[in-house]
Amino acid sequence: MTQETPIYKDPKQPVEARVRDLLSRMTLEEKADQLLQGLIGKDVNPNNLGGENSFRPTIGSILSYSGGSKARNAFQRIAVENTRLGIPIIWGYDVIHGWRTCFPVSLAQACSFRPELTEKLSRVSALEAWTDGGVDWTFSPMVEVAHDPRWGRVVEGYGEDPVTAQAFTTAAVVGYQGKTPEEWKQPGYIAACLKHFVGYSASEGGRDYHYTDISPRALWEYYLPPFEAGVAAGARTLMSSFNDICGTPAVANHYTETEILRNQWGFTGFIVSDWGGVSQLKAQRYSSDPAVQTVHSLEAGNDMDMADFVFTNIPELVKAGKLSIATVDLAVERVLRVKFEMGLFEHPYAPEVPTEESCWKPEYLETALAAAREAMVLLKNEKQTLPLAPSGLKRVALIGPHWKNNLVHIGWWGALVKDDEKHAPSLFTKAQEFFPDAELVYEQGCPAPSVKSNLETLAARDEALLQAAAAAAASADVILLTLGEGGHQSGEYKSRRDIALPPCQEELIAAVRKAAGDKPVIALVSGGRPLAFQDAARSLDAILYIWQCGYGASQAAMEILTGKVNPSGRLAMTFPRTVGQIPVYVNQHHPARFGLNEYQDIPEENGPWFPFGYGLSYTEFTYGDLSVTPAASEGAAAFTAKVTVSNTGKMAGSETVFWYLSDLEASLTQPLKRVIAFRKIDLQPGETREVTLSVTRDMLSYVRGDGSKVLEPGDFILSASGKTEAKFTLNA
Ligand code: BGC
Repeated sequence: MTQETPIYKDPKQPVEARVRDLLSRMTLEEKADQLLQGLIGKDVNPNNLGGENSFRPTIGSILSYSGGSKARNAFQRIAVENTRLGIPIIWGYDVIHGWRTCFPVSLAQACSFRPELTEKLSRVSALEAWTDGGVDWTFSPMVEVAHDPRWGRVVEGYGEDPVTAQAFTTAAVVGYQGKTPEEWKQPGYIAACLKHFVGYSASEGGRDYHYTDISPRALWEYYLPPFEAGVAAGARTLMSSFNDICGTPAVANHYTETEILRNQWGFTGFIVSDWGGVSQLKAQRYSSDPAVQTVHSLEAGNDMDMADFVFTNIPELVKAGKLSIATVDLAVERVLRVKFEMGLFEHPYAPEVPTEESCWKPEYLETALAAAREAMVLLKNEKQTLPLAPSGLKRVALIGPHWKNNLVHIGWWGALVKDDEKHAPSLFTKAQEFFPDAELVYEQGCPAPSVKSNLETLAARDEALLQAAAAAAASADVILLTLGEGGHQSGEYKSRRDIALPPCQEELIAAVRKAAGDKPVIALVSGGRPLAFQDAARSLDAILYIWQCGYGASQAAMEILTGKVNPSGRLAMTFPRTVGQIPVYVNQHHPARFGLNEYQDIPEENGPWFPFGYGLSYTEFTYGDLSVTPAASEGAAAFTAKVTVSNTGKMAGSETVFWYLSDLEASLTQPLKRVIAFRKIDLQPGETREVTLSVTRDMLSYVRGDGSKVLEPGDFILSASGKTEAKFTLNA
């Protein structure tokens, strides 16, 4: 570097010095531009920046550009080489569960209870997105804890439990950004974005974009913990949510965006609004005045405006004395800081490698398969119907609407994922491989769930399809039935009033059962959320919930059906018996009375259909007695818990040990039980392992509505997976 090289261009200078230097050189208009995120290219949007000629190269960020690295670099070159200060643009994209290699949706990932797999697949997503698409920043992970499966976006999160969500959030952040700031500076690591901050998942009635009524305590107890974990793991950006918190919309909420995030958690990165979040303040009846929208958002701590272009009024507001330059500078500093930290000034251009070379590498596909194998959950297996021995089967009926539909495995937010046979082989293709000696008879059975409309999936019966399905079922030794949601029935703006199977699928189950007599009927159920179909499920012998597991889905499903793989997924979200039972989730608070609090029109016991943590295996696990003893030394750990787990069956398998804590009396009422940790272990037949948990004071504490933690002496019960428990006392 020569003497004349500005400080901000010198990578040897500390980031803060570079930020200050660059800021001091910027005009008000250049500063305002850094706070805008727009679109470019063929993407259709009123704020589209147009082609290369009309492109605004001083813009801070561009999103959802899918033109590939080469074209992206051409735009970037103008920003870096043809503008006064040469500030690189940060390119954002929704890389949610893969860029080109498709991984299980986040909710399914959580069911693997292997955060290390999420770290690995997020790493692959980052590499593909950066190398192939020039993406510097993904709008992921979505870390919202959700209690209502009617909300279509549960598919994007890690389920209902804050501790599970924390573990997966950390894993995703590390996968995208690396473990250390030094690692993140290297090309191929991309910025993570924790979203949506905060409480969007509490939308009333599960309706997307709706009002949320969140008490301060619920905010701290359920919704904030995954964000805190993500910030601690190093996430450098957040996206503010659409909802409002105690009357103040998230994008303009000083309490969450500044007091909690910055002042308490020490976050120094930046917040981007969600699409249109700033101008939506009008719809929320907060303010229809763009000046107020901008000033309140910026003053609250929301730094960048996504796709809205309301922030173009910044220069005018500053000149009119309505917005302080200090507020603008603070936001610009945060954006620049992240750009410097990630090394964007040093490597503004993405590699220009052919897609075939940078994507779909064998190890990437292997990761997709590994994740799919662990995410699927065996919900029912009467009389050990599964695994099937393919060699003994002469005729297998493949019935149902999803056998030849590859999109059911891909789900919402597919990025640039292809759903053709080459990349996402169908269940039908894989069945041919796995049952080579059997005659396969295929029948669709009922109308396919439509990609576009939920209503079409309610389509009336198709008599001809039903009859053909019944005939196929009657002629086969075993019936494999595909059921559940279509690929785009869960996701953004995909709320459902009911989460049952469509009537035509229920009719199909009935017709097939009748024709099959005593022969096994096995269901493979797809979905991006829990579905409630307990009555229809009674006549099924086995149910494998295959979620939307990406490129490895069909292979993993067949491996599990045939016993090549022992299922090990466990539910990260409760399955209700019926939609009216919602909300029902693992860490619900105590009722004042038991028994009489139950729904009178649910004939079974009032618990959920399948609780959090549920999932069957082909082997059996036996728990020994649980012991809880005071920790050897004073410190964070208060107690040590130990339990032995044995594989007492005949097949190697994996068990997830869930540690549940019940606080028997406290000054603020407590959940019946809450998850404080989990651990998945692998056991050979006959093998026993001891699983130890260090029960920390933090785990024993509860949180108050102001965010403070309280550790109260008293009695607790610790349980290992609900199989064994121990009572212990924390003395004053
Ligand atoms: C969604 C975000 C997403 C953004 C950009 C919004 O509508 O709520 O989750 O990141 O669009 O695509």
